[in-house]
Amino acid sequence: MCNQTNCLWIRSRAWLTIITKILLLLAVGQTSPTMAAVVRRQLAFISRISSRQCSRCFYSSLAAPQSQKQQDEITLLDQSYRTDEWTNISNPIIDTLSRKLHLQPSHPVGILRKIIEARFPENQYTRYSELPPVVTTQQNFDSLGIPADHPGRSRTDTYYVNANTVLRTHTSAHQAETFRSCPTPGFLISADVYRRDSIDKSHYPSFHQMEGAMLWNWDKDTAQTVENDIAKLPKVDLVVEDVPAFHDQNPKQQGHTDEESIAMSNHLKRTLEGVVEEIFGRARLAAGNISDEKLRVRWIDAYFPFTSPSYELEVFWEGQWLELLGCGVVAQSVLENAGSSFASSMLTIGVRNKVGWAFGIGLDRLAMVLFGVPDIRLFWSRDERFLKQFSPGKVSQFKPFSKYPDCYKDVAFWVNDSKISAAGGGQVSTFHENDIMELFREEGGDLIEDVRLVSPSDHI
Ligand code: DAH
Repeated sequence: MCNQTNCLWIRSRAWLTIITKILLLLAVGQTSPTMAAVVRRQLAFISRISSRQCSRCFYSSLAAPQSQKQQDEITLLDQSYRTDEWTNISNPIIDTLSRKLHLQPSHPVGILRKIIEARFPENQYTRYSELPPVVTTQQNFDSLGIPADHPGRSRTDTYYVNANTVLRTHTSAHQAETFRSCPTPGFLISADVYRRDSIDKSHYPSFHQMEGAMLWNWDKDTAQTVENDIAKLPKVDLVVEDVPAFHDQNPKQQGHTDEESIAMSNHLKRTLEGVVEEIFGRARLAAGNISDEKLRVRWIDAYFPFTSPSYELEVFWEGQWLELLGCGVVAQSVLENAGSSFASSMLTIGVRNKVGWAFGIGLDRLAMVLFGVPDIRLFWSRDERFLKQFSPGKVSQFKPFSKYPDCYKDVAFWVNDSKISAAGGGQVSTFHENDIMELFREEGGDLIEDVRLVSPSDHI
């Protein structure tokens, strides 16, 4: 709920600050450009606060300038959408819509995407990386069997464009349409996803996921076909703590035979173990770790409305278990939903008569671990000192830099003219230019960029 007292307090505090500053200007007659800029900024801030009154009460007013009547449209990636009382998207989120970090070849998130994709043969897994982030509630929730009272649907957790339209909260939102239209048995979807969340060093309301899935024709030979496909997967050399394919608390689906369910979950697990080996093998190299100790992973039972049985995968990394992804055998109801809107087409039959698995992996937190990035907000930096550190295909360790921009300090020293000598020579008493250089190097190291003799005499 809106906290008016809080809002008023912000306003009055801002006004007080600005009044203080204006008085100061008058008092000392100061017109420095910095001070003017500060005042201009504060004015803009105050006019924003007073026009929206309270950020929590008038979500939509944040998205674009408001007229007297309720704003009724919002523009996202050049598309207009009707707004209503569900609308809760703010300008900072709108700004992130066009960033698409997962498509940048030299960004840790983009590098990680490519590394994972490389594990999946292109002729079996079609890549989708540019699906637009605005989806319907049907795509994001209903198509996956997410119940009406699921907390993830609330306005506190999800960015609503309007009552029926959201910014996707996960890449699973595209499962149904992709199952329907994908030309290969499998697919990989990478995309930016959005969740209303706290902001701290490991949470950011925009982040990235990759969704993967694989389907087989569902007939009497399915279990054998899947077993044959398992034999073709690249061999993996990990220590794996596994759980049974299914049991009472993590059941197989009605209609799946034991053999089908076991074969599909084994194919899923072996495929994802290969991904983990690839990623963390590279991370070990980047960290200079050449130990031949095997990487440890463990499977854990999980629950998702759109898979059964369901699992999570964890990897033992730097002394702790790190949660990597969620996955499972795709619920037949999801495949049926995927076909149902094309009730009269052949495609319906195609999707309904299939079985398979799916997984979803978060890219940002994994990229933080791999590249040693301590704060998720750094991924959104436009600072070259961050962006220039990474190159395509390479996992490298992030080198910290100041959060403040470069700041040059020029310092001048006077040195007694008669004592300085460029030629130097054997005289012990003269002070050679290089001695000064050495002095600076000792004291300032690489922080000192340039040392020059400005004037040989005293007319600076
Ligand atoms: N969509 C889930 C999330 O965002 C992750 C996920 C779990 C995706 C299981 C899947 C899956 O495809 O099968 O938390």
